[in-house]
Amino acid sequence: MVSRSSAARCYALVPCAGAGERAGAGGPKQYRAVGGRSVVWHTLAALSGVSRLAGTLVVLSAADGEFERHAGEAACWTARVGGATRAASVANGLAALRERGVRDDDWVLVHDAARCLVLPSDIERLIEACEHDAVGGLLALPVADTLKRGSPGDAERVALTLDRRSLWQAQTPQMFRLGLLGEALARAGDAVTDEASAVELLGHSPRLVRGSLENFKLTWPADFALAERLLRTRA
Ligand code: CTP
Ligand code: MG
Repeated sequence: MVSRSSAARCYALVPCAGAGERAGAGGPKQYRAVGGRSVVWHTLAALSGVSRLAGTLVVLSAADGEFERHAGEAACWTARVGGATRAASVANGLAALRERGVRDDDWVLVHDAARCLVLPSDIERLIEACEHDAVGGLLALPVADTLKRGSPGDAERVALTLDRRSLWQAQTPQMFRLGLLGEALARAGDAVTDEASAVELLGHSPRLVRGSLENFKLTWPADFALAERLLRTRA
């Protein structure tokens, strides 16, 4: 009898249906050029360097007419099922993965299209750290700076200083089994800004796997020039 590998299957799900308002570019930031290619091109290139991924699904907005022009050669599925929030886009993407045969006990790595500087080696470390975990986990960074909370009355004045010990910044990928993540997002609704917080609301404690500062999310106008410089030094 042919023995079948018992290694769990891993898939990537890339929410790519945002409008990029904070980047102020007048269009979705995932299609802006950095280092001669679009943001999402770099993201998909990094994912295609991870041999443990059995497939990648990109979630686009229904009106998207740009992705194919910007995506390059990386093999991926697309689903035009983007929602009004990131959480809705991810939940709809999970349903699209199910339609393609992905099962409840398969792992799904949700990764922002806008984090185009992620390294395949960091994704591989996340998979190694989580694939035998009961819950799953995420790339994250211990907070280095002292944290201030702005005043309710004047956001540019300090109300208090937070204790940064034990605080982490959540990144992506965030890796959970499809079944658990689907249930978590269905219960949590639209307000959560990452997958881990939905899973936490079910009472679980996702694993924190130390990531890299370079895996930042392109969010503000100045982030694109920084990404450009980092890509240049990598080449
Ligand atoms: N995203 C999505 N569907 C949404 C909102 C966001 O698929 N309704 C995706 C974005 O395309 C991005 C990732 O989720 O790859 C992270 O979201 P964020 O950085 O907030 O991107 P935008 O929502 O596009 O930006 P902004 O919040 O500044 O408008
Ligand atoms: Mg957003």
